[in-house]
Amino acid sequence: MRILAIETSCDETAICLMDVLGGTGSPTFTILGNALLSQAHLHAQYGGVFPNLAKREHQHNLVPLLTETLRESHELRDALRGHQMSPTSGTSDVPNIASILEREPELRMQLEQFLDTYAAPQIDCIAVTQGPGLEPALWVGINFAKALAHVWQLPIVAVNHMEGHIAASAYGSDAAPEYPAIALLVSGGHTELQLVKKMGDYELLGATRDDAAGECFDKCARLMGLPYPGGPEISKLAAQARAHKLPPTFALPRPMIDSPDLDFSFSGLKTAVRRLLEHHTANVGKSDFPSLGKPGSPGLTGDEQCALAREVEDAIVDVLVRKTLKAAEAYGAHAIIVGGGVSANAHLRERLSEAAARARGTSEGKSDLPVLFPPKELSTDNAVMIGMASYFRAFKKEFAAPDSIRAAGNLHL
Ligand code: KG4
Ligand code: ZN
Repeated sequence: MRILAIETSCDETAICLMDVLGGTGSPTFTILGNALLSQAHLHAQYGGVFPNLAKREHQHNLVPLLTETLRESHELRDALRGHQMSPTSGTSDVPNIASILEREPELRMQLEQFLDTYAAPQIDCIAVTQGPGLEPALWVGINFAKALAHVWQLPIVAVNHMEGHIAASAYGSDAAPEYPAIALLVSGGHTELQLVKKMGDYELLGATRDDAAGECFDKCARLMGLPYPGGPEISKLAAQARAHKLPPTFALPRPMIDSPDLDFSFSGLKTAVRRLLEHHTANVGKSDFPSLGKPGSPGLTGDEQCALAREVEDAIVDVLVRKTLKAAEAYGAHAIIVGGGVSANAHLRERLSEAAARARGTSEGKSDLPVLFPPKELSTDNAVMIGMASYFRAFKKEFAAPDSIRAAGNLHL
């Protein structure tokens, strides 16, 4: 099955064309073409994602990314060559595209030009993110999918973005995880533990009561004078602190680490960082120690900046590891799946894998509790994961009626 997947839920515009072989047990995914444009640098000045800017950028980027994906897949064929041209492509469908893309005039113009230039590619279905995410951003991808599906006469699978993050962990592995599994989903908007009974069958076990883990990384980074997105920035400085064995200068709380439930709370951590910085600025002048990082927030030397980054990362990771292991034991999980932007974090990867091996290590040095992470490049938002998640529905022909697909900012699994 050949799937064209589209992702526009936040600040990444992404398109992927993939071939999928095998049933839903352990399918093989082959990426034929994959293109992504991150807008993070444009949102950096706002310290987070600005929805209308995201919408404008998605509109601007989708057709160039579609062209790039199809070219990479050798599916970009000139419409003028005739024999491969779909009877439904070309300008004859312009009135319908006009109504589907009524709110996206720039996208409409680019798409009309594209359809006049290129023939319909060989595709079996279109997958698009329906939610959760920023609704203005989601709508652009959905309307684009509807327009393409209309012109090329293809069915659509509406995909839950979080299911995409779960599905991505299977990329490149030859066997599906054994179920039940615990999924730790950690992104800019989500921190949750899901019991995965099988793909498509989930039970929410716990979630953050306030900020998400990625949001906490981003907010702490901002307080420390680091750019958005803050997760990778904090992680880089924390790694320097560990490599140089900097002394533990700061102590932050581990919120809810011992609470009897599987919930999280990260907003207190950000407040603790704010207080600590205020206190530090008031009491300590700049030292002229030779420093590793660049001094960012007032009053912190580069070394202190690195030491604080390490403490922030340790605090978040300590809580995530403890609660995930607790869920795995409580539900007799056979695997842990990690997904979402924070799953790119090297320290989380190392610590969670070690903890699972310690909890269920066998005498041969293997673990009965494998921890599955997506490849790093598929940890943050991308279209490959959307294509992967869609397959489980496409295989069963669970297609959505185009008119019924609506952006759902708060969609749950
Ligand atoms: O899944 P994602 O790309 O977008 C959402 O769906 O939210 O996640 C983005 C989040 C951001 O908060 C970012 O700071 C965080 O993932 N992130 C990281 C790392 N890479 C991205 N957090 C910690 N360490 C990283 N290496
Ligand atoms: Zn995401």
